[in-house]
Formats: sequence, C-alpha cells, structure tokens
Amino acid sequence: MRRKLIAGNWKMNGLRAGGTALAGGLAEKANAETPICDFLVCPPAHLLIPVADAISGSPVALGGQDCHVNASGAHTGDLSAEMLADTGCSFVVLGHSERRADHGESNALVRTKSAAAERAGLTAIICVGETAEERKAGRALEVIEKQIRESLPESAEASLVVAYEPVWAIGTGLTATPGDVAEVHAQIRKLLIELFGNDTGNAIRILYGGSVKPANAAELMAVENVDGALVGGASLKLDDFWAIGRSCP
Ligand code: PGA
Repeated sequence: MRRKLIAGNWKMNGLRAGGTALAGGLAEKANAETPICDFLVCPPAHLLIPVADAISGSPVALGGQDCHVNASGAHTGDLSAEMLADTGCSFVVLGHSERRADHGESNALVRTKSAAAERAGLTAIICVGETAEERKAGRALEVIEKQIRESLPESAEASLVVAYEPVWAIGTGLTATPGDVAEVHAQIRKLLIELFGNDTGNAIRILYGGSVKPANAAELMAVENVDGALVGGASLKLDDFWAIGRSCP
C-alpha cells in the first residue's frame, strides 16, 4: 500500500511571518489529528530554517524546490542538496516545469540533480508533464515517457516520487480529467516497473499536480495510481491544504 503524500510547493511566495504561521498551523493540525496521509511543505530557501523550526516535532516534512548538482563550490546563488539536508529537508522537488522553462533545465540535468539528492540522503520528487500544444497534438504520453526515461535516476529507490503535472493545468484553474490522469498515471506505472522492476516500480509514489484544490481533490485522489498531490496555490492557504489532505481516500 502506498501512503498518499500531499506536498505543498510554495514556489516564490511567502515572507517570514506568514510562512512560519502557515507551517506552524499545519504542524498544529497534524499533531492534533493523526493525518491519513503524509504532509510535506517546500518553502522558498529563506524560509527553510524558520519553517523547519515551526514543524519540528510534528509529522510534517520539509523539502526544497531545487538543488545544485554539486555539494559545494563556486556557484553563486545556488543551494546544494547537502545544504537542504542541513536545514532539515528530507525531500527536494526536481525538474518542475517552471525550472525547466525559466532555467532551461533539461532531462539530463534533472537526472544529475536526482543523483545529487540521493548523495545527500534526500528523496527526489521528479516532475514531468506535457504542454497544451503537446496534448493537442496527441503527443502527451510520448513526451511524458521521454521525460521519465531521461530524467529519473538510473537506479531508483522505492522512496523516489514522480509528479505528473500537465503544464497547462499549473496555476490555471484547469485540471486534467480523472480519465486523463488515470491514463497517464497507468503509463507512468508501467514505465516504472519496466525500468526498476516490480517491487520498486510499484512502490514509487506518483503524485498529480495542477490546480488541485479542495473541490477537486477527492475525485483526483481516488484515481488509480494517484498517490498524492503536488499543490501550488492551494498549499498557501492552511484550510485548503489541510482539506486536500483530508480528502484522501
Ligand atoms: P498549482 O501548482 O497547484 O498552483 O496549479 C502546482 C505546481 O506547480 O506544483
């Protein structure tokens, strides 16, 4: 049984007061009521340490939004996987479509970053997903397959996480239909089994992301092979994020 993971990707949002209050509020809820899923928050870098303090002693986990491939060195503005681990992170999001678009991150770079995450003892959440044009052209599955084959580490651990995030559904209020999500997640599961064997391929969690909110979460979380959600906008509202977690079957 794969336990569902509800991950909040705060992106470039939040200052210290609001971010620590949000994380502290989530920790309080998770302490008061044993959650039926795993909760993770991925704040921007300046909030990693205060958020780590705010969730300390709670079941809420901490993650980074990206990491450099090297452990240290002359890379101005970058953070290494080891530095994320040093703040208390146990996860790191890699290859988000915004990093692929804004920073030209290739599948090969994402794969190298996933090795860096492993080196530092972090669990990578590797994002894949097609653009609107690719879906319209009937190429969604082909694009996702290429991303999976080229971005994932060569030998994956069972703890690895994959996130399917159709680019056209991110921050737009549009969500893929449960039927489309089921089709893509089934294809990803098949590939994971082909690449890593039955045990690991079946253990890897596959999250759905793209405009997940309380109103659509129950329907999406009930889809076969959907093992949680990567949530952007709605993760910035405590009640919405908590409600998404509670909607897990
Ligand atoms: P969204 O973002 O929930 O705001 O659509 C999801 C993501 O980019 O991870």
